[in-house]
This record gives sequence, C-alpha cells and structure tokens, in this order.
Amino acid sequence: MLASELFTLKNRVALITGASSGLGAHLAEVAAENGAKVMLVARRREKLEELQANIDKAGGIAAITVADVTDRAAMARAFDAAEKLFGTVDLCVANAGIVRSAKAVDTTEEIWRETMATNLDGVFFTAQEAANRMLAAKKPGSIITIASVAGLSVERGVGAYNVSKAGVVQATKVLALELARKNIRVNAIAPGYTATDLNREFLDSEKGKRIREQIPTGRFGEPGDLDGAFLLLASNASQWITGTTIVVDGGHLMTIG
Ligand SMILES: NC(=O)c1ccc[n+]([C@@H]2O[C@H](COP(=O)([O-])OP(=O)(O)OC[C@H]3O[C@@H](n4cnc5c(N)ncnc54)[C@H](OP(=O)(O)O)[C@@H]3O)[C@@H](O)[C@H]2O)c1
Repeated sequence: MLASELFTLKNRVALITGASSGLGAHLAEVAAENGAKVMLVARRREKLEELQANIDKAGGIAAITVADVTDRAAMARAFDAAEKLFGTVDLCVANAGIVRSAKAVDTTEEIWRETMATNLDGVFFTAQEAANRMLAAKKPGSIITIASVAGLSVERGVGAYNVSKAGVVQATKVLALELARKNIRVNAIAPGYTATDLNREFLDSEKGKRIREQIPTGRFGEPGDLDGAFLLLASNASQWITGTTIVVDGGHLMTIG
C-alpha cells in the first residue's frame, strides 16, 4: 500500500471547530490539501473567510459557518450546511477550546462553567452530532477530539482546563466504545505546548522558558507537528484504531505525568 493512498482524505467531508486560528486553522489546511472538503466553524467570521480564501487559493475546497460550540442549535446548522454543500460529514475534528488561568481555590463559577461549556460540552456535543449524522446516513467516519497533555497530568493555575481535558479523553472513549460496531472511530490527540494564539505570550514568559527546558526535545511544538497524528487518525490508515489518545508533546508528559 502506498502512503499516498493510505493517508488520503479524498472524497471525505470534514467539519472542524475552532478553525479560525491555531491548530484548527492549520488542520483545516492539511485536511483540504489532502483532498477533504472542509466546513470551517468558529465565531470570528473574518478569520474564517481569510482561511477559506487561502484554502481556495491553494486549490482546496472549504466553506464557513459562524457558530459557537456551546450553542447546539448553531452547531446543528453547521452540520446542515456542510451536508447541503458537500454531503454527510465523515471527518469531524472537535478542536475548539479555551484556557482560563486561576488557582483551583480562586476558580470562579464563571471560569469553571465557561471552560467546561467550551472544552467539554462543546467537544462532546459536536462529536455526538457528527456521530448521529453518520449513523443516520449509515456512513463510516472518524471523529477526532483535541484533548491535551493537560488532561493527562495536572499543573498549578489551570485546574478547570485540566479537568475539562481529562473529560475529553473520557468522552472520546465512551463514544468510541459505543460506535465501534458502526465503523465510526473516535480518537483524541493530546498536544503538548504548541505555539498558537492560545499561549504565545505565556510561552515567551520566564515561566514559559522554564517549561521549555523540561521538554525532552528542548522546544515547543509547531502546529505542523500534529500532521502525522492527524492524518493517521483522519484517514483509513487507522481503520482499527479507536478510543485512543495520541500524545504529541516532544516527550513532555514523561517529565510531568
Ligand atoms: N496550543 C497548545 O499548546 C495546545 C496544547 C494542547 C491542547 N490544545 C488545544 O487545542 C485546541 C486549539 O487550541 P489553539 O492552541 O489552536 O488555540 P487558539 O489559537 O486560541 O484557537 C482556539 C480556537 O477555538 C475557537 N473557539 C473558542 N471558543 C469557541 C466557541 N465557544 N465556539 C466556537 N469556537 C470557539 C476559536 O475561535 P473563535 O474565537 O473565532 O470562536 C479558535 O479558532 C484547544 O482545544 C486547546 O485546548 C492546545
């Protein structure tokens, strides 16, 4: 089997949340480059339009839906729009997420609920919507959730984030277990520190520099470091892989887990 055939996303329909920046925007470009038609979802329309134009310029196919992942009706409309334009979504990347810093004892109800609503509820219900549409269309598919090494370890000052991402790992397994017989695979990618808008300032800080020293490979990740895990889980190359979490972190978890 040729790698180009094994990892292709030709004829696939992808929906990616949090596609307006960082990892989501990058993975959308990778999906389009590898043949998928992509529905880009986030709240910032201009950013989505910019990415759509870039994908178009590169010869790919993408459309946009402005939606908040905490709004289930809006997300259902995003799936409807993808279906109408391209067909049933058979590759869903539940990526949208936020970080709010606060010590556990200082975490307000607002920080807690906003973090859970976006990172955990948003991922679970997006994945659930994707699964129900695949089931209705009797189509196989791949659902990828974006967890974090923060869901497999704990760190001071981001407790709500740690808990939400641990929940993503569990939600991924729960869905994978029940959907396996239907040929719908559900897996997570758990990135380590990767330079994006989410954390750029933090990575440049003194604390960020100390963390970089802990990473066995001696550097932070770039969005492109996720490409291998993403193409593996998205494509038929992973046809017998489900319920797993692939850690992409330059070895960081070994030193903190
Ligand atoms: N960067 C890292 O080091 C790292 C490490 C581990 C895991 N992750 C995870 O990777 C994912 C992407 O993070 P990133 O680093 O790419 O951060 P980012 O550049 O800040 O991107 C976050 C994306 O999520 C979207 N988003 C946030 N809240 C949303 C909502 N309520 N509804 C719809 N979209 C929403 C944002 O779009 P709008 O603001 O336009 O809605 C944006 O596109 C997150 O789940 C994050 O936890 C990142």
